[in-house]
This record gives sequence, structure tokens and C-alpha cells, in this order.
Amino acid sequence: SFVGYMAKKNVKKKTKGHYPAPLAAINSVIYGFSKPIDKGLRNEAKEFSKLVITPISKNLVQLFYNQESLKKYTGVSDDTIRPKVIKKAGVIGAGLMGAGITWALSYKGVETRLKDVENKFLVKGLQQINTIYKQLVKIRRLTPTQANILFLKNVSTTSNFSGFHDRDIVIEAIVEDIEIKKKVFQQLERQVPDHCILASNTSSLSINEMSTVLTRPENFIGMHFFSPVNRMPLVEIIVGDKTSPETIASVVQLSKGLKKTPVVVKDCPGFLVNRVLLPYLNEAVKCVQDGVSVEKIDQIAVKFGMPLGPLSLADEVGLDVGYKVAMVLEAGYGERMKTAQVFQDIIGDSDCRGRKSKKGFYIYKSGNKEVNRPLVDRAVSYSSMSNQKYLDSDVLDRMILVMVNESVRCLAEGVVENHLLLDMAMILGTGFPPFRGGVLRYADSRGIKEIVTRLRELASVYGERFKPADLLIQYAQDGKSFYK
Ligand code: NAI
Repeated sequence: SFVGYMAKKNVKKKTKGHYPAPLAAINSVIYGFSKPIDKGLRNEAKEFSKLVITPISKNLVQLFYNQESLKKYTGVSDDTIRPKVIKKAGVIGAGLMGAGITWALSYKGVETRLKDVENKFLVKGLQQINTIYKQLVKIRRLTPTQANILFLKNVSTTSNFSGFHDRDIVIEAIVEDIEIKKKVFQQLERQVPDHCILASNTSSLSINEMSTVLTRPENFIGMHFFSPVNRMPLVEIIVGDKTSPETIASVVQLSKGLKKTPVVVKDCPGFLVNRVLLPYLNEAVKCVQDGVSVEKIDQIAVKFGMPLGPLSLADEVGLDVGYKVAMVLEAGYGERMKTAQVFQDIIGDSDCRGRKSKKGFYIYKSGNKEVNRPLVDRAVSYSSMSNQKYLDSDVLDRMILVMVNESVRCLAEGVVENHLLLDMAMILGTGFPPFRGGVLRYADSRGIKEIVTRLRELASVYGERFKPADLLIQYAQDGKSFYK
């Protein structure tokens, strides 16, 4: 029937063919429509039993259990620690992130004071908050009155520190510059009560270093929201050496209150999500240098299940923004995270900053995009391998196994407590395909031995950055996997 056809078409568009269950469900409904009930039910049972044994189903069930166990997650091992009650918040910086965070707090009833240096920035921030509320009214999540009440009751603004004397938490989201952030935190600490938690939304700067200017570093923590804040469900919580368990428990509870999933990580360059994601993006650029076409690289990643190809994603994030984080990683980890050489040309060209400047790996013209040929020409000039032919599976393994390898290092270093949290963070923070169950779950499905063999092969062709992590080698030797 036409209805069935349209339903299937919509599902295919949404799932890109990666999730068979919704299609089977539609087919069962169509079948049952024209048959007696017992036949319909028998058919449904048959379809169900086919699906339930697939790896996709098992991965999704595992994810469900991960999510359930996260409900009890407090971020600390000592269960006598009581989180502080947070009723009043402050946000510094009314830009993209600050406005998003202010919206998230106000929406869940936290009275929030938003500060920026000038009124014109505050006005822009308020407009952004208003836009999110309007969208919620449009999809009928809120009535116009409810939206107005939440907005007017819970959001106020200031261009100085007035009203910061009674805050329970202040989240900073100003420019990504450590010296400016340090200065602001130093001023801020004098304006807030002793119990107040100070959090930074930095995406790449060291929490430990920032805390050196504070007299109460135990109250200081990283709270890394993802953009756009109203849609991204993850908050990476970065713990410094001096952060108190009470502070950790408090921001974990606050994040849950905002209906986000908190994952506690240690302070290291890139924290967890960017540390694992950036090597994937960087490897995609190295593939361009080695002569693989831009479209092909993106297609291969999308076929694997990523929501967006890596080069499209880099354009969306902004090449200037990505480069800054990439430099932090290169400085932190050296050779294995060396930024692709073509970035020299990209950074030298201020028009080439990705989607926002209409030019990146693609050129954006009135709703269309085409590959940026001149950039590709420059990229291939950096590689002696750009005339070779590559198998799709090689390109995919270069991009994905580099993530697997870095994930395992994070686990070995205790950057994140366990494999379940790591997989959840990568799925929620980067859109790593849920049906694959996460980066480490994917590694298990390929077999750790096979991963180690592949990494060694890639290392012999492309270089040391693919050298398998020690823990991976150990798992391969012991015949272990990350999941039971
Ligand atoms: P933005 O440039 O949109 O906003 C920064 C705002 O801070 C501006 O309104 C500016 O006037 C204000 N500001 C600067 N100095 C100030 C001061 N001393 N006091 C008060 N306000 C001040 O920047 P965006 O993108 O919102 O980023 C903010 C922070 O969030 C950065 O640390 C960034 O690394 C981090 N972040 C950004 C993400 C993104 O996708 N844009 C994602 C996750 C974190």
C-alpha cells in the first residue's frame, strides 16, 4: 500500500538502512492487515526471532543496559558523598555555548545569571535562548506561557558581577584562551560564596593549569558541553588533581538534572572525546593527502554508520576551531597525533574555515556543496602515495582503528573508568553508530587479535601512529575482549 511504502521510505531515510527492526515491524503490520490474527502473530514472532539474534540487536540491548546502569552513576566511588544542591547558577560568556548552557539551566528551573562584557553580546545571547524556547513551542513541547515563564523567571543578565554573591555554581564559556580564563576565574572567585562551584566549559585547556590561580581549587572542575547544547546529550566532566569528590558528585547530579549524560574523565590533552575523535578526523585528512577522494572518504564513514563524514564534520565544526584542538593534541602526544601537513595551507587562508566561511574541504554554494579542488591539489602534494589505489576497507580501518587504538590507551591510562562509559561517551558525544555498540564494542566484534594484526599492517605502510597500544596487545595475547 501507499501508506506502507511511505512509512518504509521515511524509515530508510532516517536509519540509512542500518536498523532492520523498524522495517520488519512495518512489514509485519502490512502482512497482518490482510491475514487472520493468528497468522499475523505467527509471522511477527518469526520476524522477531530473526532480528533478536543479530549483532545489531545485541549491541542495542547492551546500550540499553549501559544507559540503565548510568542512572545510578554518581561519578564518585564513595557513596557517602552528598552532592550540593544547586538552585542558583551563573554563566560567563553569552556566546554560542554560554547561551546554550543558560537555556539548559533555565529550562530545568535553575535560576541563572548570564554575564558578558558588553550588553550587545548579552542581547545576542538572549536572542539565541529565545530561539530555542520558540522551537520548543513550535513542536508543542511547551506552551507559549510556559516558555515565557521559564525564560523570564530563570534568566537574568549582567555586564559586571552583580548578583554573583549567592551563586551555587558558575560555568565559564568565554574565549578559548588560558590566560584570559585564568584572569576571569581569579576575579570570579572573589565574587562568589565559599561553597560555589566554578566550572569551565573549555574544550581543550588544562583544568589543572587553570586551577593554579584559585584559592579553592577543590571547588573547580571542567564541564564540557557539546554544541548545540540543546540537542547534544553528553557532558564530559573533567576532574583536576585537586577537585573534591563533593564537587564531582554535584556536577554529575546537576548534569543529570539537565537531562544530560555525564561522563567523568581525567584531565589530559583533549580529555576523552576529542582525544579519540581528532585522530579520526586527522586520519581522514591524511587520506585526502594520500589521494583518496573527499567524497569517497565521507561516504565510507557514513556507510559505516557515522552521522556525517569526517571531512563534512570538520567543515561544520570549523577548520580553525579544529586546528586549535589538534595543536593541543599534537603538543600533548607528539608524533602519533601530528596534524596533517595540508593544515599549513588551510590555516594560512582565512577564507578557508569550513562551512561558516563557505569554504573548507567543500565549497558551499546556495544549498549545494562541491569538493574544494584547489585544496585537494595542495593536499596530495604532501604525499608520495597519492597515486595509489586504495581499498575502501583500508580507508575505513585507517580512520576507525586509529580511534580504537586511542580509546584503548584512554582506558589503560584510566582517563575514563571503564569501557561502558567510554563507549557511551563516544556515541553520545560524536554520534559513533549506536548499532555498533561503541568503539570498544566494535573492536570486540572484529576480534582483538584481528585488530592488532590490522594495526600492525597499517603501521608498516603508513607509520608508527598505528602501532597497537600495549593493552590491546595484552588483550590479544590473553584472548580477552572488553565486553564479557
Ligand atoms: P563565542 O565566541 O561564541 O562566545 C564567547 C563569549 O564570551 C562572547 O560573547 C564574548 O563576548 C564573551 N567573553 C569574552 N571574554 C569575556 C569576559 N572576560 N567576561 C565575560 N564574557 C566574555 O565562543 P563559544 O563557541 O561559545 O565558546 C566558548 C567556550 O566554549 C570556549 O572555551 C570553547 O572552547 C568552548 N566550547 C565550544 C564549543 C563549540 O562548539 N563552539 C563546544 C564545546 C566547548
